[in-house]
Amino acid sequence: MKEKQESSRRSFIKKLATTTAAVAAGSSLLAAENKVKPFSILKRPPGNSLNDQINIALIGAGGMGTQDAIVALQIPGVKLVAVCDLYDGRLNDAKTRWGADIFTTKIYKEILNRKDVDAVIVGTPDHWHQQISIDAMHAGKHVYCEKPMVHSITEGPAVIKAQKETGKVFQVGSQGVSSLGNEKAHELLKSGAIGQLNYAEGFWARREPLEVWQYPIPADASPQTVDWETYVSNTKKRDFDAKRFFRWRNYTDYGTGMAGDLFVHLFSSLHFITGSMGPNKIYAAGGLRFWNDGREVPDVLLGTFDYGKTQEHPAFNLSLRCNFVDGTSGTTYLKLVGSEGSMDITWDKVTLKRNKTFGSDDPFYLDKLKKAGSGYAERKKMLPPEEIVYDAEKGYLGGPYDHMNNFFTAIRNNGKVTEDAIFGYRAAAPALLCNDSYYNNSPMFWDPEKMHSIKK
Ligand SMILES: NC(=O)c1ccc[n+]([C@@H]2O[C@H](COP(=O)([O-])OP(=O)(O)OC[C@H]3O[C@@H](n4cnc5c(N)ncnc54)[C@H](O)[C@@H]3O)[C@@H](O)[C@H]2O)c1
Repeated sequence: MKEKQESSRRSFIKKLATTTAAVAAGSSLLAAENKVKPFSILKRPPGNSLNDQINIALIGAGGMGTQDAIVALQIPGVKLVAVCDLYDGRLNDAKTRWGADIFTTKIYKEILNRKDVDAVIVGTPDHWHQQISIDAMHAGKHVYCEKPMVHSITEGPAVIKAQKETGKVFQVGSQGVSSLGNEKAHELLKSGAIGQLNYAEGFWARREPLEVWQYPIPADASPQTVDWETYVSNTKKRDFDAKRFFRWRNYTDYGTGMAGDLFVHLFSSLHFITGSMGPNKIYAAGGLRFWNDGREVPDVLLGTFDYGKTQEHPAFNLSLRCNFVDGTSGTTYLKLVGSEGSMDITWDKVTLKRNKTFGSDDPFYLDKLKKAGSGYAERKKMLPPEEIVYDAEKGYLGGPYDHMNNFFTAIRNNGKVTEDAIFGYRAAAPALLCNDSYYNNSPMFWDPEKMHSIKK
Protein backbone atom coordinates (compact mmCIF):
# COMPACT_ATOMS: atom_id res chain seq x y z
CA MET A 1 0.00 0.00 0.00
CA LYS A 2 2.91 2.29 0.82
CA GLU A 3 4.19 2.01 -2.75
CA LYS A 4 0.73 2.80 -4.13
CA GLN A 5 0.49 5.84 -1.88
CA GLU A 6 3.95 7.07 -2.82
CA SER A 7 3.20 6.87 -6.53
CA SER A 8 -0.17 8.62 -6.13
CA ARG A 9 1.51 11.30 -4.01
CA ARG A 10 4.03 11.86 -6.82
CA SER A 11 1.23 12.06 -9.36
CA PHE A 12 -0.58 14.67 -7.26
CA ILE A 13 2.57 16.74 -6.89
CA LYS A 14 3.09 16.58 -10.65
CA LYS A 15 -0.47 17.79 -11.26
CA LEU A 16 -0.09 20.46 -8.63
CA ALA A 17 3.06 21.74 -10.31
CA THR A 18 1.19 22.02 -13.63
CA THR A 19 -1.73 23.88 -12.04
CA THR A 20 0.59 26.23 -10.22
CA ALA A 21 2.59 26.94 -13.35
CA ALA A 22 -0.57 27.64 -15.36
CA VAL A 23 -1.89 30.01 -12.75
CA ALA A 24 1.41 31.78 -12.37
CA ALA A 25 1.76 32.22 -16.13
CA GLY A 26 -1.76 33.54 -16.51
CA SER A 27 -1.78 36.07 -13.74
CA SER A 28 1.08 38.32 -12.85
CA LEU A 29 -1.09 39.80 -10.12
CA LEU A 30 -1.47 36.44 -8.45
CA ALA A 31 2.20 35.66 -8.88
CA ALA A 32 3.07 38.96 -7.23
CA GLU A 33 1.11 37.99 -4.16
CA ASN A 34 2.92 36.13 -1.49
CA LYS A 35 0.15 33.60 -1.11
CA VAL A 36 -0.76 31.97 -4.39
CA LYS A 37 -4.27 30.55 -4.26
CA PRO A 38 -5.01 28.56 -7.39
CA PHE A 39 -8.69 28.12 -7.97
CA SER A 40 -10.20 25.21 -9.87
CA ILE A 41 -13.75 24.87 -11.05
CA LEU A 42 -15.75 21.70 -10.38
CA LYS A 43 -17.91 20.81 -13.39
CA ARG A 44 -20.71 18.35 -14.03
CA PRO A 45 -21.43 17.35 -17.67
CA PRO A 46 -25.06 17.94 -18.70
CA GLY A 47 -27.33 15.04 -17.68
CA ASN A 48 -29.33 12.76 -19.98
CA SER A 49 -32.82 13.79 -20.77
CA LEU A 50 -34.81 10.67 -21.50
CA ASN A 51 -38.31 10.51 -22.79
CA ASP A 52 -39.77 7.64 -20.80
CA GLN A 53 -41.84 9.01 -17.93
CA ILE A 54 -41.32 7.79 -14.37
CA ASN A 55 -44.29 8.21 -12.04
CA ILE A 56 -43.47 8.77 -8.41
CA ALA A 57 -45.38 8.97 -5.14
CA LEU A 58 -44.35 10.64 -1.92
CA ILE A 59 -44.87 8.85 1.40
CA GLY A 60 -44.29 11.28 4.27
CA ALA A 61 -44.93 14.77 2.90
CA GLY A 62 -43.28 16.87 5.60
CA GLY A 63 -40.25 19.14 5.27
CA MET A 64 -37.75 16.80 3.63
CA GLY A 65 -40.17 14.62 1.70
CA THR A 66 -41.63 17.72 0.07
CA GLN A 67 -38.15 19.02 -0.72
CA ASP A 68 -37.16 15.66 -2.23
CA ALA A 69 -40.28 15.67 -4.41
CA ILE A 70 -39.56 19.22 -5.58
CA VAL A 71 -36.03 18.17 -6.60
CA ALA A 72 -37.28 14.94 -8.23
CA LEU A 73 -39.70 16.95 -10.36
CA GLN A 74 -36.77 18.94 -11.77
CA ILE A 75 -35.52 15.76 -13.46
CA PRO A 76 -36.92 15.53 -16.98
CA GLY A 77 -39.71 12.95 -17.36
CA VAL A 78 -40.59 12.58 -13.66
CA LYS A 79 -44.23 13.03 -12.62
CA LEU A 80 -45.75 13.02 -9.12
CA VAL A 81 -49.06 11.13 -9.05
CA ALA A 82 -49.80 10.42 -5.38
CA VAL A 83 -49.00 11.58 -1.85
CA CYS A 84 -49.44 9.82 1.49
CA ASP A 85 -49.20 11.43 4.91
CA LEU A 86 -50.76 10.86 8.32
CA TYR A 87 -51.73 14.51 8.88
CA ASP A 88 -54.53 16.27 6.96
CA GLY A 89 -52.60 19.53 6.85
CA ARG A 90 -49.77 17.93 4.83
CA LEU A 91 -52.20 16.34 2.37
CA ASN A 92 -53.94 19.68 1.86
CA ASP A 93 -50.57 21.37 1.34
CA ALA A 94 -49.67 18.71 -1.26
CA LYS A 95 -52.87 19.42 -3.22
CA THR A 96 -52.24 23.17 -3.03
CA ARG A 97 -48.67 22.73 -4.24
CA TRP A 98 -49.09 20.02 -6.88
CA GLY A 99 -52.73 20.25 -7.95
CA ALA A 100 -56.10 18.90 -6.85
CA ASP A 101 -55.81 15.86 -9.14
CA ILE A 102 -52.94 14.39 -7.06
CA PHE A 103 -54.21 11.25 -5.31
CA THR A 104 -53.84 11.60 -1.52
CA THR A 105 -54.25 9.06 1.26
CA LYS A 106 -53.24 8.31 4.85
CA ILE A 107 -52.65 4.62 4.04
CA TYR A 108 -49.30 3.99 2.37
CA LYS A 109 -50.38 0.57 1.13
CA GLU A 110 -52.92 2.32 -1.11
CA ILE A 111 -49.96 3.99 -2.80
CA LEU A 112 -48.13 0.69 -3.17
CA ASN A 113 -51.22 -0.95 -4.73
CA ARG A 114 -51.34 1.63 -7.52
CA LYS A 115 -50.12 0.32 -10.86
CA ASP A 116 -49.23 3.83 -12.07
CA VAL A 117 -46.54 4.34 -9.40
CA ASP A 118 -43.01 3.32 -10.46
CA ALA A 119 -41.04 4.70 -7.51
CA VAL A 120 -41.67 6.12 -4.05
CA ILE A 121 -39.86 8.66 -1.90
CA VAL A 122 -39.99 7.71 1.78
CA GLY A 123 -39.85 10.91 3.84
CA THR A 124 -41.43 9.67 7.05
CA PRO A 125 -39.80 9.80 10.50
CA ASP A 126 -37.06 7.19 10.92
CA HIS A 127 -39.15 4.48 12.63
CA TRP A 128 -41.15 3.92 9.44
CA HIS A 129 -38.26 3.77 6.94
CA GLN A 130 -37.61 0.04 7.11
CA GLN A 131 -41.15 -1.27 6.85
CA ILE A 132 -42.35 1.08 4.12
CA SER A 133 -39.16 0.53 2.06
CA ILE A 134 -39.43 -3.25 2.25
CA ASP A 135 -43.16 -3.25 1.47
CA ALA A 136 -42.58 -0.87 -1.43
CA MET A 137 -39.84 -2.99 -3.01
CA HIS A 138 -41.97 -6.12 -2.67
CA ALA A 139 -44.81 -4.22 -4.34
CA GLY A 140 -42.48 -3.63 -7.31
CA LYS A 141 -41.56 0.01 -6.58
CA HIS A 142 -38.12 1.59 -6.67
CA VAL A 143 -37.37 3.41 -3.41
CA TYR A 144 -35.63 6.64 -2.48
CA CYS A 145 -35.55 6.41 1.33
CA GLU A 146 -34.46 9.29 3.52
CA LYS A 147 -31.55 8.82 5.90
CA PRO A 148 -30.88 7.14 8.23
CA MET A 149 -31.87 4.00 6.34
CA VAL A 150 -33.09 2.32 9.51
CA HIS A 151 -34.14 3.24 13.03
CA SER A 152 -32.28 0.48 14.87
CA ILE A 153 -29.17 -1.55 14.15
CA THR A 154 -31.18 -4.79 13.88
CA GLU A 155 -33.32 -3.49 11.00
CA GLY A 156 -30.67 -3.20 8.27
CA PRO A 157 -30.24 -6.78 7.00
CA ALA A 158 -33.94 -7.10 6.06
CA VAL A 159 -33.71 -4.02 3.81
CA ILE A 160 -30.58 -5.41 2.13
CA LYS A 161 -32.37 -8.75 1.64
CA ALA A 162 -35.46 -7.10 0.13
CA GLN A 163 -33.32 -5.11 -2.27
CA LYS A 164 -31.44 -8.23 -3.38
CA GLU A 165 -34.60 -10.31 -3.74
CA THR A 166 -36.60 -7.73 -5.68
CA GLY A 167 -33.77 -6.20 -7.75
CA LYS A 168 -35.37 -2.77 -7.32
CA VAL A 169 -33.29 0.40 -7.22
CA PHE A 170 -33.01 1.48 -3.60
CA GLN A 171 -31.17 4.66 -2.68
CA VAL A 172 -30.73 6.30 0.71
CA GLY A 173 -31.02 10.09 0.89
CA SER A 174 -27.65 11.37 2.10
CA GLN A 175 -27.47 13.59 -0.93
CA GLY A 176 -23.93 14.89 -0.32
CA VAL A 177 -22.59 11.55 -1.57
CA SER A 178 -23.49 12.47 -5.17
CA SER A 179 -22.14 16.02 -4.96
CA LEU A 180 -19.25 17.46 -6.94
CA GLY A 181 -17.57 18.31 -3.64
CA ASN A 182 -17.53 14.70 -2.42
CA GLU A 183 -16.41 13.50 -5.84
CA LYS A 184 -13.50 15.95 -5.91
CA ALA A 185 -12.45 15.06 -2.37
CA HIS A 186 -12.45 11.37 -3.32
CA GLU A 187 -10.27 12.10 -6.34
CA LEU A 188 -7.87 14.30 -4.35
CA LEU A 189 -7.47 11.79 -1.55
CA LYS A 190 -6.77 9.03 -4.07
CA SER A 191 -4.18 11.15 -5.85
CA GLY A 192 -2.26 11.65 -2.61
CA ALA A 193 -3.16 15.33 -2.16
CA ILE A 194 -3.07 15.17 1.63
CA GLY A 195 -0.57 12.32 1.95
CA GLN A 196 -1.59 9.47 4.23
CA LEU A 197 -4.98 9.96 5.87
CA ASN A 198 -4.83 9.69 9.65
CA TYR A 199 -7.74 11.74 11.02
CA ALA A 200 -11.15 13.13 10.06
CA GLU A 201 -13.57 15.35 11.92
CA GLY A 202 -17.03 16.77 11.58
CA PHE A 203 -18.94 19.35 13.60
CA TRP A 204 -22.40 20.92 13.81
CA ALA A 205 -23.19 23.95 15.94
CA ARG A 206 -26.81 25.11 16.31
CA ARG A 207 -28.80 27.23 18.67
CA GLU A 208 -32.04 28.38 17.01
CA PRO A 209 -35.11 26.58 18.44
CA LEU A 210 -36.30 25.56 14.97
CA GLU A 211 -32.90 24.08 14.15
CA VAL A 212 -32.76 22.11 17.37
CA TRP A 213 -36.09 20.42 16.75
CA GLN A 214 -38.59 22.67 18.56
CA TYR A 215 -40.90 22.76 15.55
CA PRO A 216 -44.23 24.61 15.61
CA ILE A 217 -47.26 22.47 16.39
CA PRO A 218 -50.22 23.22 14.09
CA ALA A 219 -53.26 24.67 15.87
CA ASP A 220 -55.52 21.96 14.43
CA ALA A 221 -53.33 19.03 15.59
CA SER A 222 -55.67 16.41 17.09
CA PRO A 223 -56.57 12.72 16.74
CA GLN A 224 -59.14 13.89 14.14
CA THR A 225 -56.50 15.42 11.84
CA VAL A 226 -53.63 13.02 12.63
CA ASP A 227 -53.74 9.23 12.18
CA TRP A 228 -52.02 8.63 15.51
CA GLU A 229 -52.97 4.93 15.68
CA THR A 230 -50.99 4.19 12.53
CA TYR A 231 -48.10 6.41 13.64
CA VAL A 232 -47.50 4.33 16.79
CA SER A 233 -48.61 1.00 15.34
CA ASN A 234 -45.03 -0.28 14.96
CA THR A 235 -43.72 1.07 18.27
CA LYS A 236 -44.83 1.62 21.86
CA LYS A 237 -48.57 2.42 22.04
CA ARG A 238 -49.27 5.76 23.76
CA ASP A 239 -52.08 8.28 23.94
CA PHE A 240 -52.11 11.03 21.33
CA ASP A 241 -49.29 13.50 21.89
CA ALA A 242 -48.83 16.25 19.29
CA LYS A 243 -45.23 16.86 20.42
CA ARG A 244 -44.32 13.25 19.75
CA PHE A 245 -45.81 13.57 16.28
CA PHE A 246 -44.56 16.99 15.15
CA ARG A 247 -41.29 17.01 17.14
CA TRP A 248 -40.55 13.33 16.64
CA ARG A 249 -36.75 13.80 16.46
CA ASN A 250 -36.66 14.37 20.23
CA TYR A 251 -38.05 10.91 21.08
CA THR A 252 -36.24 7.62 20.71
CA ASP A 253 -39.34 5.66 19.60
CA TYR A 254 -39.35 7.59 16.31
CA GLY A 255 -36.06 9.47 15.85
CA THR A 256 -32.39 8.55 16.06
CA GLY A 257 -31.03 11.62 17.86
CA MET A 258 -28.18 13.79 16.67
CA ALA A 259 -26.18 10.81 15.46
CA GLY A 260 -28.93 9.38 13.23
CA ASP A 261 -30.00 12.80 12.04
CA LEU A 262 -26.62 14.44 11.40
CA PHE A 263 -23.62 12.15 11.95
CA VAL A 264 -25.07 9.79 9.34
CA HIS A 265 -24.50 12.38 6.59
CA LEU A 266 -20.83 12.53 7.46
CA PHE A 267 -20.47 8.76 7.59
CA SER A 268 -21.98 8.62 4.11
CA SER A 269 -19.66 11.28 2.72
CA LEU A 270 -16.60 9.94 4.53
CA HIS A 271 -17.24 6.39 3.35
CA PHE A 272 -17.71 7.57 -0.21
CA ILE A 273 -14.57 9.72 -0.17
CA THR A 274 -12.33 7.13 1.47
CA GLY A 275 -13.93 3.96 0.10
CA SER A 276 -14.35 2.82 3.69
CA MET A 277 -16.91 0.34 4.97
CA GLY A 278 -16.96 1.87 8.44
CA PRO A 279 -15.39 1.97 11.88
CA ASN A 280 -14.82 -1.00 14.14
CA LYS A 281 -14.96 0.82 17.49
CA ILE A 282 -17.45 3.50 18.49
CA TYR A 283 -17.49 5.55 21.64
CA ALA A 284 -19.85 8.40 22.57
CA ALA A 285 -20.14 10.99 25.32
CA GLY A 286 -22.54 13.87 25.78
CA GLY A 287 -25.51 15.07 27.76
CA LEU A 288 -28.72 17.04 27.92
CA ARG A 289 -27.45 20.48 28.93
CA PHE A 290 -30.08 23.01 28.05
CA TRP A 291 -33.20 22.03 26.07
CA ASN A 292 -35.21 20.61 28.93
CA ASP A 293 -38.35 20.38 26.84
CA GLY A 294 -39.07 16.70 27.48
CA ARG A 295 -36.62 15.43 24.88
CA GLU A 296 -35.10 12.00 25.43
CA VAL A 297 -31.94 12.67 23.42
CA PRO A 298 -28.80 14.64 24.33
CA ASP A 299 -28.26 18.18 23.04
CA VAL A 300 -24.47 17.85 23.11
CA LEU A 301 -22.97 14.70 21.62
CA LEU A 302 -19.39 13.67 20.86
CA GLY A 303 -18.48 10.50 19.04
CA THR A 304 -15.09 8.95 18.39
CA PHE A 305 -14.64 6.21 15.84
CA ASP A 306 -11.69 3.94 15.02
CA TYR A 307 -11.29 2.94 11.39
CA GLY A 308 -9.02 -0.06 10.85
CA LYS A 309 -6.59 -0.41 7.95
CA THR A 310 -8.09 -1.84 4.75
CA GLN A 311 -7.11 -2.18 1.08
CA GLU A 312 -8.71 1.22 0.51
CA HIS A 313 -7.24 3.29 3.35
CA PRO A 314 -4.80 3.28 6.26
CA ALA A 315 -6.09 3.12 9.84
CA PHE A 316 -7.46 6.50 10.95
CA ASN A 317 -9.58 8.13 13.64
CA LEU A 318 -12.79 10.09 13.28
CA SER A 319 -14.18 12.62 15.73
CA LEU A 320 -17.74 13.93 15.34
CA ARG A 321 -19.34 16.60 17.48
CA CYS A 322 -22.74 18.17 17.64
CA ASN A 323 -23.73 21.03 19.93
CA PHE A 324 -27.29 22.36 20.00
CA VAL A 325 -26.48 24.97 22.62
CA ASP A 326 -23.70 26.69 20.77
CA GLY A 327 -23.86 30.43 21.37
CA THR A 328 -21.74 31.05 18.27
CA SER A 329 -24.06 28.85 16.18
CA GLY A 330 -24.13 28.10 12.50
CA THR A 331 -21.04 25.95 11.88
CA THR A 332 -20.96 22.68 9.99
CA TYR A 333 -17.88 21.07 8.53
CA LEU A 334 -16.10 17.93 7.44
CA LYS A 335 -12.31 17.87 7.42
CA LEU A 336 -9.90 15.13 6.39
CA VAL A 337 -6.34 15.36 7.66
CA GLY A 338 -3.33 13.57 6.23
CA SER A 339 0.43 13.54 6.69
CA GLU A 340 0.87 16.30 4.09
CA GLY A 341 -2.21 18.46 4.33
CA SER A 342 -5.94 18.61 4.89
CA MET A 343 -9.20 19.07 3.01
CA ASP A 344 -12.30 20.98 4.10
CA ILE A 345 -15.18 19.45 2.20
CA THR A 346 -18.64 20.74 1.37
CA TRP A 347 -21.01 19.67 -1.39
CA ASP A 348 -19.86 22.37 -3.77
CA LYS A 349 -16.40 23.28 -2.55
CA VAL A 350 -13.17 21.59 -1.44
CA THR A 351 -10.41 23.60 0.18
CA LEU A 352 -7.12 21.77 0.09
CA LYS A 353 -4.41 22.98 2.46
CA ARG A 354 -0.89 21.68 2.27
CA ASN A 355 2.24 22.18 4.29
CA LYS A 356 4.37 24.92 2.77
CA THR A 357 7.52 23.10 3.71
CA PHE A 358 8.45 20.38 6.09
CA GLY A 359 11.57 22.27 7.16
CA SER A 360 11.63 24.19 10.43
CA ASP A 361 12.10 27.96 10.60
CA ASP A 362 13.01 27.86 14.28
CA PRO A 363 16.37 29.80 14.41
CA PHE A 364 17.73 27.71 17.31
CA TYR A 365 16.97 24.50 15.49
CA LEU A 366 18.48 25.83 12.25
CA ASP A 367 21.59 26.98 14.11
CA LYS A 368 21.94 23.51 15.61
CA LEU A 369 21.65 21.96 12.16
CA LYS A 370 24.35 24.29 10.83
CA LYS A 371 26.69 23.49 13.70
CA ALA A 372 26.11 19.82 13.17
CA GLY A 373 27.18 20.36 9.54
CA SER A 374 23.97 18.80 8.28
CA GLY A 375 24.16 20.47 4.88
CA TYR A 376 21.54 23.12 5.66
CA ALA A 377 21.38 25.41 2.61
CA GLU A 378 20.79 29.18 2.73
CA ARG A 379 19.31 29.20 -0.74
CA LYS A 380 15.58 30.02 -0.94
CA LYS A 381 13.18 27.37 -2.28
CA MET A 382 10.23 27.37 -4.66
CA LEU A 383 7.18 26.77 -2.49
CA PRO A 384 4.00 24.98 -3.49
CA PRO A 385 0.71 26.82 -2.90
CA GLU A 386 -0.58 26.68 0.64
CA GLU A 387 -4.21 26.46 -0.34
CA ILE A 388 -6.20 25.44 -3.40
CA VAL A 389 -9.93 26.05 -3.58
CA TYR A 390 -12.01 23.86 -5.87
CA ASP A 391 -15.34 25.59 -6.34
CA ALA A 392 -18.44 24.44 -8.20
CA GLU A 393 -19.11 26.04 -11.54
CA LYS A 394 -21.81 28.74 -11.50
CA GLY A 395 -25.23 27.21 -12.07
CA TYR A 396 -24.34 23.88 -10.42
CA LEU A 397 -27.65 22.36 -9.33
CA GLY A 398 -26.12 20.80 -6.23
CA GLY A 399 -25.83 17.47 -4.42
CA PRO A 400 -29.60 17.01 -3.96
CA TYR A 401 -30.20 17.27 -7.72
CA ASP A 402 -27.27 14.99 -8.56
CA HIS A 403 -28.46 12.43 -6.02
CA MET A 404 -32.00 12.37 -7.38
CA ASN A 405 -30.65 12.27 -10.91
CA ASN A 406 -28.50 9.23 -10.05
CA PHE A 407 -31.60 7.50 -8.67
CA PHE A 408 -33.69 8.06 -11.81
CA THR A 409 -30.77 7.31 -14.14
CA ALA A 410 -30.32 3.94 -12.39
CA ILE A 411 -34.05 3.21 -12.81
CA ARG A 412 -33.94 4.09 -16.50
CA ASN A 413 -30.74 2.23 -17.29
CA ASN A 414 -31.38 -0.72 -15.04
CA GLY A 415 -28.21 0.41 -13.33
CA LYS A 416 -26.85 0.76 -9.82
CA VAL A 417 -26.57 3.56 -7.27
CA THR A 418 -23.70 4.17 -4.88
CA GLU A 419 -25.82 4.75 -1.79
CA ASP A 420 -27.68 1.45 -1.96
CA ALA A 421 -28.95 -0.63 0.96
CA ILE A 422 -25.50 -1.96 1.90
CA PHE A 423 -23.91 1.48 1.72
CA GLY A 424 -26.88 2.97 3.60
CA TYR A 425 -26.63 0.40 6.36
CA ARG A 426 -22.87 0.88 6.71
CA ALA A 427 -23.48 4.62 7.15
CA ALA A 428 -26.43 4.23 9.54
CA ALA A 429 -24.85 1.54 11.73
CA PRO A 430 -22.05 3.61 13.34
CA ALA A 431 -24.53 6.44 13.95
CA LEU A 432 -26.97 4.08 15.67
CA LEU A 433 -24.16 2.43 17.62
CA CYS A 434 -23.05 5.89 18.71
CA ASN A 435 -26.47 6.29 20.36
CA ASP A 436 -26.16 2.80 21.89
CA SER A 437 -22.75 3.75 23.26
CA TYR A 438 -24.17 6.95 24.79
CA TYR A 439 -27.11 5.19 26.48
CA ASN A 440 -25.07 2.13 27.56
CA ASN A 441 -22.11 4.26 28.63
CA SER A 442 -19.72 1.87 26.96
CA PRO A 443 -17.80 1.45 23.69
CA MET A 444 -19.50 -0.50 20.92
CA PHE A 445 -17.71 -2.83 18.54
CA TRP A 446 -18.76 -3.44 14.94
CA ASP A 447 -17.58 -5.54 12.03
CA PRO A 448 -18.01 -3.09 9.13
CA GLU A 449 -17.33 -5.65 6.43
CA LYS A 450 -19.71 -8.37 7.63
CA MET A 451 -22.04 -5.76 9.14
CA HIS A 452 -22.70 -7.12 12.61
CA SER A 453 -22.06 -6.04 16.19
CA ILE A 454 -19.27 -7.68 18.15
CA LYS A 455 -19.61 -8.45 21.84
CA LYS A 456 -16.41 -8.01 23.87
N1 LIG B 1 -31.32 14.27 3.63
C1 LIG B 1 -31.46 15.33 4.39
O1 LIG B 1 -30.72 16.30 4.32
C2 LIG B 1 -32.59 15.35 5.39
C3 LIG B 1 -32.99 16.56 5.98
C4 LIG B 1 -34.09 16.55 6.85
C5 LIG B 1 -34.73 15.35 7.13
N2 LIG B 1 -34.30 14.19 6.57
C6 LIG B 1 -34.98 12.92 6.87
O2 LIG B 1 -36.28 12.96 6.28
C7 LIG B 1 -37.22 12.29 7.11
C8 LIG B 1 -38.37 13.24 7.43
O3 LIG B 1 -37.89 14.34 8.15
P1 LIG B 1 -38.69 15.74 8.13
O4 LIG B 1 -37.81 16.73 8.73
O5 LIG B 1 -39.23 15.96 6.79
O6 LIG B 1 -39.89 15.41 9.15
P2 LIG B 1 -41.36 16.00 9.11
O7 LIG B 1 -41.95 15.77 10.45
O8 LIG B 1 -41.35 17.38 8.57
O9 LIG B 1 -42.10 15.08 8.04
C9 LIG B 1 -42.43 13.73 8.28
C10 LIG B 1 -43.81 13.49 7.67
O10 LIG B 1 -44.09 12.09 7.71
C11 LIG B 1 -45.47 11.91 8.02
N3 LIG B 1 -45.63 10.54 8.53
C12 LIG B 1 -45.28 10.04 9.74
N4 LIG B 1 -45.49 8.69 9.77
C13 LIG B 1 -45.99 8.36 8.54
C14 LIG B 1 -46.44 7.15 7.97
N5 LIG B 1 -46.41 5.98 8.63
N6 LIG B 1 -46.94 7.18 6.71
C15 LIG B 1 -47.00 8.34 6.01
N7 LIG B 1 -46.59 9.52 6.50
C16 LIG B 1 -46.08 9.53 7.76
C17 LIG B 1 -45.75 13.01 9.01
O11 LIG B 1 -47.12 13.32 9.07
C18 LIG B 1 -44.94 14.17 8.47
O12 LIG B 1 -45.68 15.00 7.58
C19 LIG B 1 -36.44 11.83 8.33
O13 LIG B 1 -36.08 10.48 8.19
C20 LIG B 1 -35.21 12.70 8.35
O14 LIG B 1 -34.09 12.08 8.94
C21 LIG B 1 -33.26 14.18 5.70
